[in-house]
Amino acid sequence: MIVRKSNIQTFHASTEHPLPIILDGDPGHDDAIAWVLVRSRPEFRILCVTSVCGNQTIEKTTYNAGRIMALLGMDVPLAMGLAKPLFRDPIIADTVHGKTGLDGPELPEPACQPVACSAAELMAKCLEESEEPVVIVPTGPLTNVASLLLLYPELKSKIRHISLMGGGIARGNWTPAAEFNILVDPDAAKIVFESGIPITMASLDVTERALVYPEDFERIRCVGNQVASVVAGWLEFFYHFHQSLGYPGAPVHDAVAVTALLRPDILSGRDLYVQIETTGEFCRGATVGDLNRVSGKPANAYCLMDINRDAFVDLLVDAVAYYG
Ligand code: RIB
Ligand code: CA
Repeated sequence: MIVRKSNIQTFHASTEHPLPIILDGDPGHDDAIAWVLVRSRPEFRILCVTSVCGNQTIEKTTYNAGRIMALLGMDVPLAMGLAKPLFRDPIIADTVHGKTGLDGPELPEPACQPVACSAAELMAKCLEESEEPVVIVPTGPLTNVASLLLLYPELKSKIRHISLMGGGIARGNWTPAAEFNILVDPDAAKIVFESGIPITMASLDVTERALVYPEDFERIRCVGNQVASVVAGWLEFFYHFHQSLGYPGAPVHDAVAVTALLRPDILSGRDLYVQIETTGEFCRGATVGDLNRVSGKPANAYCLMDINRDAFVDLLVDAVAYYG
């Protein structure tokens, strides 16, 4: 039994009081699976979805978000994020997610067009209208969340928590030092990690243990509904890239940021002071964790380090069964 301990993440979603959340992602196969999990749970109340440029261009991640929402029957507003990171040129991950950003299974067309306002404006509207503080679940670069904080500083108190996928204390996956989401927009990540908002960080340290094996793909497919078939197809496509690197399964990174809110009991981690490297020839985008507490600074993130993989896969199987 993995026991978590954090002074930063001090709550988790429950059916008694569904958690209002905002989903911000760059779908992306693992973003899509994270959203399948969220949509299947009564512990969450999705306020809106925003797309961010990352795995693919903003046009493609927005289109993919619309298709996923149509597949899952997510009847909430969708807004398009910024076309590029705050101060840098985009980096896309077409080698991982394909030219569409969500290659693989056929999907329905979006049921509706994105709203006219920007992602930051839609996030702000949802924060303003919410009777209680909201949890934001970013699973791509932090461009939109940073924009929200820059444009609407008065709304920071309406953000209860940020449960994000990003970073890697021990290593990177796009450069030796940097994980993709943080590398794409390190300036945005710096703004978010220095904001003072409590952060749960599903970094590579834990997400590369959240492996879904090929036999699990079949277990999911055998649930036997349309979403189960699509998720199995997404996993198969996502696994191809990772298999070529020697992974025994697909690391479903983004679903861990959701799992942290739902089942913190199957995760463990530690509170850490994390800094973002925004310059440097070799280390731009690195998430530097103060493991030996030498900085004297208080922890700003609950960094997840381990997961009960079997329990994680069970969560995903239960999630697709919801769509029966
Ligand atoms: O490094 C993994 C992260 O980058 C995931 O969020 C994946 O979807 C990509 O955005
Ligand atoms: Ca993502």
